[in-house]
Amino acid sequence: MHSKFSIGVFDSGIGGLTVLSELKKHLPQYDYIYLGDNARTPYGTRSFEVVYEYTLQAVKKLFDMGCPLVLLACNTASAKALRSIQQNDLPQLAPNNRVLGVIRPTTEYVGEITQTKKVGVFATSGTVKSDSYKIEINKFHPEINVHQEPCPLWVPLVENNEYATDGGQYFIKQHVNNLLAQCADIDAIILGCTHYPILQNEIQKFLPSGVNLITQGEIVANSLKDYLQRHPEMESRLSKNSMLEFYTTEDPSSFDEKANIFVDFSIQSKKITL
Ligand code: DGL
Repeated sequence: MHSKFSIGVFDSGIGGLTVLSELKKHLPQYDYIYLGDNARTPYGTRSFEVVYEYTLQAVKKLFDMGCPLVLLACNTASAKALRSIQQNDLPQLAPNNRVLGVIRPTTEYVGEITQTKKVGVFATSGTVKSDSYKIEINKFHPEINVHQEPCPLWVPLVENNEYATDGGQYFIKQHVNNLLAQCADIDAIILGCTHYPILQNEIQKFLPSGVNLITQGEIVANSLKDYLQRHPEMESRLSKNSMLEFYTTEDPSSFDEKANIFVDFSIQSKKITL
């Protein structure tokens, strides 16, 4: 049995736990259902249509489980599926429910901290191709130049715990150098993928001092807090028993084991089909 009226947190797999752990820290009173589509991860290399189709299935499942509010913790899903779901599906599916993403809160934040008005983004190939960060940042800050670098190897480096090895360091440095080669004046870089906060210290080693690395978890949690204050009609629908539940579309024992990379509490997930 799960708690009805939880906040649904969706990710393509396990990396969204970096977002969930910040939600748990900053908004501990709510109940959360985390759903990872580990059977079909990664999303980062998939087409717009496929990411949209898979994400919509997950959102429907979380609605069916009673979540009135779903957060797409996955950057790729936020980049490729959020807008279509909000504009085209939600009005028919569940007009009183809401689906939020992680890109908008991050872009609002970066506008406040860059001095040089040159911002970098590390993300999956899919997120970079969608140009979502560029579009969202320039909507509010047209004066900011956005430079993007896709890092397809960083997710496997994290999941296989290989980032501290010589090979891992090589690929981290390579992408950092590629981004800085686009523009040497970048003073803020968004880690636009669920997994990258795990690499924060490694990335920082290859950056000149004074460059801000922006991780999303805390920003997203604060933005959700603000959203719930502004939307009491949603806030009052959410159950508040501090419960956490985890579902995966793949093998739960491997989800629970890998979760150790991302969170400092133990997880017992259950299998689910979409
Ligand atoms: N969760 C994805 C993201 O934040 C990374 C993993 C994947 O490619 O599915 O973009």
